[in-house]
Amino acid sequence: MANSHVVRFELNGVPREVSIRANRRLIDLLRDDLGLTGTKEGCSVGVCGACSVLVDGQVMSACLLPAVCVEGARVTTIEGLAPDEEHLTALQDAFIRFGGFQCGICTPGQIIAATALLQENPHPTSDEVKHWMMGNLCRCTGYYKIVESILAAAEAGPQPVPREAVGVR
Ligand code: FES
Ligand code: FES
Repeated sequence: MANSHVVRFELNGVPREVSIRANRRLIDLLRDDLGLTGTKEGCSVGVCGACSVLVDGQVMSACLLPAVCVEGARVTTIEGLAPDEEHLTALQDAFIRFGGFQCGICTPGQIIAATALLQENPHPTSDEVKHWMMGNLCRCTGYYKIVESILAAAEAGPQPVPREAVGVR
């Protein structure tokens, strides 16, 4: 492919090698080329947080990041958070139990950002949660349920939760 670059990186724990044009964004690679549509695109300008992914553990906006920039990096999307098909992360479980979403468009980004928060600060206060999550907008929930979900996950601890416990198949 003309003007394309080979990019090698780790995606959700699996080594990947792709050939991609320099003007393609990470979200294009994830959604259009690799079929990982869990990562959402909202504003496309780095404001809403819907496209949040983890790159080497840091929250990044996939709508702004050129895909070639993940060369050698470890990328985690919402699809890669749960340890296996039988379990959810404590955050995923808590968002379901505590109603941390309505339409769900912002939810993958919310959970990705909250994952980074709990990795850095396993027991945040409500104010710390609100401050950390400022970059993730939601037009549905009013935010209370999102904060409540994150605090509940922190309280529960990092161990995965069986999917069947919340009725997810
Ligand atoms: S779609 Fe990337 S920040 Fe809004
Ligand atoms: S749940 Fe609808 S935008 Fe957040």
